[in-house]
Amino acid sequence: MYQAQENRYENMKYFSCGKSGLKLPAVSLGLWHNFGSKDNFDNMKDLIFTAFDNGITHFDLANNYGPVYGSAEDNFGRIMESDMRPYRNQMVISTKAGYDMWPGPYGDGGSRKYLLSSLDESLKRMKLDYVDIFYHHRMDPETPLEETMLALDSIVKSGKALYVGISNYTGEVMEKAAVILKELKCPFIINQNRYSIFDRSIEENGLKAAAVQNGCGIIAFSPLAQGLLTDKYLHGIPEDSRIKRDGRFLNESALTEKTLGQIRALNEIAANRGQSLAQMALSWILKDGEVTSVLIGASRPSQITENIGIIRKLDFTEEELKEVDRICGL
Ligand SMILES: NC(=O)c1ccc[n+]([C@@H]2O[C@H](COP(=O)([O-])OP(=O)(O)OC[C@H]3O[C@@H](n4cnc5c(N)ncnc54)[C@H](OP(=O)(O)O)[C@@H]3O)[C@@H](O)[C@H]2O)c1
Repeated sequence: MYQAQENRYENMKYFSCGKSGLKLPAVSLGLWHNFGSKDNFDNMKDLIFTAFDNGITHFDLANNYGPVYGSAEDNFGRIMESDMRPYRNQMVISTKAGYDMWPGPYGDGGSRKYLLSSLDESLKRMKLDYVDIFYHHRMDPETPLEETMLALDSIVKSGKALYVGISNYTGEVMEKAAVILKELKCPFIINQNRYSIFDRSIEENGLKAAAVQNGCGIIAFSPLAQGLLTDKYLHGIPEDSRIKRDGRFLNESALTEKTLGQIRALNEIAANRGQSLAQMALSWILKDGEVTSVLIGASRPSQITENIGIIRKLDFTEEELKEVDRICGL
């Protein structure tokens, strides 16, 4: 049975999630890819153990991660049962509902009906009594915001989640949600949004500023642009890469000459900083202290150990920041 490394908290930094009392590791691990029904179970275990041994306490899931939908939660539940149960109180586990999960009108969106039943199913799959954070996964214009927020509040009151978050919301809608949740005294502590050197949409849609103003944390997903912001595509497309393995969420069309040129130029800045490109891309997100954690994915344990190296260098010079922006055409 797995025994966690005793020194696991020594080489990680933990940041407060907004103004809440919950601290998250600088690097968190997401189970969107590589934990599905066709993936290698021993590798999944290695990924979880490597993360936890290196101070990564936060694991992020969603009802429909797989494929097949639910299988990432199922596999995570098996690992909880076999090895991680003794460490449950040292882990922050999150899941979500909001995108399509099961057929018909009650398996998608933001209704109370969907959110409450989906979390019950997630808890069964993960073999947990509660999650630490439950998210509404996306804005749903067909459901009144009040209904979705009241559902999140009910979930906390039922004891099935300790905190709530929202994902893929804009700044404007997030502020409306925050007002409702504040009135309910519901512990809304985190926003989960895509953010990377290549994707600045949370700066453009006001989410980043609104979160900071509301004392709410931000966790950045796809911080490596699914692997583009690493050195892996510099010399062709490796067989064992997300583009070759999956092709649905990231495919060859992303690797234009322009993007490749940007990746090469960014890689040079990283080398001058004494970091890999993956490390620099992650440090860039945490540089101003406004983002709580970077939520990485990994297909192999060595990527996790490389990526946590960022805690040794989070700061940038003005010149480096300007150069990164210039390369991105900003
Ligand atoms: N809320 C939402 O709507 C939403 C949406 C998307 C993701 N998420 C969350 O965010 C998590 C992370 O998303 P993501 O997987 O797209 O993040 P990412 O960190 O941008 O990409 C992860 C992929 O990059 C590659 N990689 C990682 N470290 C590397 C390194 N050091 N060197 C070379 N390649 C490296 C691996 O791909 P290879 O397979 O090619 O090795 C890995 O699977 C998800 O698991 C999920 O929890 C949330």
